[in-house]
Amino acid sequence: MKRVARLTAATAILAATTLSAETPPNPNAAEAKAIVQEFATTLQGELQAAMKDGGPVNAIAVCQDRAPAIAADLSARTGWEVGRTSLKTRNTAENSPDAWEQTVLADFDARRAAGEDVQPMAYAEVVETADGKTFRFMKAIPTAEVCLACHGTAITPDLATAIDERYPDDMARGYSLGDVRGAFSLSKPL
Ligand code: HEC
Repeated sequence: MKRVARLTAATAILAATTLSAETPPNPNAAEAKAIVQEFATTLQGELQAAMKDGGPVNAIAVCQDRAPAIAADLSARTGWEVGRTSLKTRNTAENSPDAWEQTVLADFDARRAAGEDVQPMAYAEVVETADGKTFRFMKAIPTAEVCLACHGTAITPDLATAIDERYPDDMARGYSLGDVRGAFSLSKPL
């Protein structure tokens, strides 16, 4: 119960930053959203270009190499820790969610099941860590048409083989259009 109350309160704070003109905007949430926007735009651009050039087998390298490289570049430039995660990861070694992320991802699924639009779905909270207060932010990633080739229910055999070779622990299949595929996850010490 306590957790639910906290989630609701923090969601309300986040909503207030976008909905109410009287509440001063939360600069951390705004900054995190801008970083997510840059991450998503850069990655999607590169992914779509690679798919067009050489199809999905060729584009696996973009997801494998470029996604972490873009995240690392953004982290170095902004001072935020930037990454992607999911309840069903492909890169289980690198992208597995921690306990806080698992809770937020489960909450995103529940919010979607309750009819909420996935595109703007986000959550922010200030958490206590061993090193002090940390601002944490997650932005849901909807499953779009272009994602289904590699994360959908009908992955072609050659592509499935290429994925299996690189990701023997892959869980990131079986998604449908509009599902919450995962989330961008950002944090910054306060
Ligand atoms: C060409 C195949 C391909 C396509 C198309 C694709 N992905 Fe992926 N996706 C991958 C691979 C490979 C990884 C593992 C990346 C890594 O090693 O970090 C991945 C990882 C992810 C992750 C990180 C969490 C995890 O599972 O490890 C998310 C989130 C994600 N993809 C979302 C999407 C979304 C949303 C789309 C559509 C806009 C999409 N992907 C399209 C291949 C693909």
